[in-house]
Amino acid sequence: MRFAELLRTKPVEHVLKQNRTDPTTPDDDTGRGTGDGQLHQNLRARDLVGFGVGIVIGTGIFTLTGLQAKENAGPGVVISFLIAAAVSLLAALCYAELAAAVPTAGSSYTYAYSTMGEIFAWIIAWDLILEFALGGAVVARGWSGYMAGVFDLPERWFAEEGSVVNIGAIAIVAVLGWVAMRGIRESKWVTNGLVVIKVTVCLFVIAVGAFYVDTGNWVPFIPPSQPSDADSGALTAPLWQFVTGVEPSSFGFAGILVAAAVVFFAYSGFEAVANLSEETREPGRDMPRGLLGTLGLCTLLYVGVCLVITGMVEYTDLSEGDAVADVFDQVGLTWAGILIGIAAVAGLTSVILVDLVAMGRIGFAIARDGLLPPVIGRVHPRWGTPVVMTVLTIVGVALLAGLVPITVLAEMVSIGTLFAFLVVSIAVLVLRRTRPEMERPFRTPWVPLVPIASIVCCLGLMASLAVETWLRFVVWLLLGLLVYACYGYRHSRLRRVSAPAEPVG
Ligand code: ALA
Repeated sequence: MRFAELLRTKPVEHVLKQNRTDPTTPDDDTGRGTGDGQLHQNLRARDLVGFGVGIVIGTGIFTLTGLQAKENAGPGVVISFLIAAAVSLLAALCYAELAAAVPTAGSSYTYAYSTMGEIFAWIIAWDLILEFALGGAVVARGWSGYMAGVFDLPERWFAEEGSVVNIGAIAIVAVLGWVAMRGIRESKWVTNGLVVIKVTVCLFVIAVGAFYVDTGNWVPFIPPSQPSDADSGALTAPLWQFVTGVEPSSFGFAGILVAAAVVFFAYSGFEAVANLSEETREPGRDMPRGLLGTLGLCTLLYVGVCLVITGMVEYTDLSEGDAVADVFDQVGLTWAGILIGIAAVAGLTSVILVDLVAMGRIGFAIARDGLLPPVIGRVHPRWGTPVVMTVLTIVGVALLAGLVPITVLAEMVSIGTLFAFLVVSIAVLVLRRTRPEMERPFRTPWVPLVPIASIVCCLGLMASLAVETWLRFVVWLLLGLLVYACYGYRHSRLRRVSAPAEPVG
């Protein structure tokens, strides 16, 4: 294995040519095609915010808030959401530069391939698989928890607390997997409708719930630090506590940081806004506004919802499955709880579908580049979807969603997303030095300050995740490197293209 080959890059022209011949890739990431293979530059900042809010709001606010307030942060979960928002913003500003510089509506995998080299692209791709598959599983469990609340379904099969095999989560993955496999996408109207529903639910919770807030429930706002359960073991301690030998604890400021790292999940997905830079009228102006607007609006809604639900009941009484709906039930507004539950179920359904469809596309893109076997990228002749990858995804996501607790899954998604942002932030710094001439429709402001701050903050949040999460993540990355060494390195399409003796295949 030669080092130089690990850093081979895919020319941008090559990326564009592939996009035009890709049957599964719609002309943009919203699924709306322009029909002529060319992207139209007609998006403004407000369109970007609408799109962003639609894909960002999901299980993070509806489910993880209750769990994290109860287990790690108390009402201080509000501060956790603010910290996660700040880190997301720094990362978003870096992400947008790369997304705008590589003129294709692809994912960070494609940007990395054309700028940083194959090995980095592979690592990001492997990381994206983790992020989307586990992300889908997290939202499926959240969906199941809300179904249990609305329809009073047996906890054993649906609830987060007390279920051994979560049948509800498995069922929704199977149904939506079938939909994704048949290539049925939501229409623009359905997508827009769901955005309105999700934002309305949050506003409703804030406006109505505010009348039921008892400020006594916010005291203490940050519950004092207490030693972790003796039987939870060292592996559940945050990495930094384990490394520094600090007594493992929950709550207190350390608890706020742990919760921030987990609820980072609530912001994941906003990077898809950066993917739309090519279709944005004035990326230099509209992209930062779109990103700031999405993060700003989501942060306001998240903080408002957190303040209200931790004010309506004591944080110790929050539900682990459907906290936002359940608090209304607890104060006697059962009808409101049911309405919120139904809206949450609708909103979460669309997030799961987006994740499953995205997984198919990621697998297709990697297989097309020869880094995974061609069978993975095989497209169904009639449905036009990468059917093998989608079936593998359904089986994997259903198993995870059925058997693994939501916090474990969410922590894995958070570490994966933070890692991808870390790589992207480093890439901005490196590429400013190595490729200063590269055209950049959007430039990260205050370089190197913003990328360095992003790197430090991503590392800080990653260090707040549990030792066991780190172990699982390292094992996943090593497995990925093994797959690359045994298959991708040899079969890379780029390798064959650059080897003169072999035919281009
Ligand atoms: N940010 C999305 C959610 O919270 C993935 O569900």
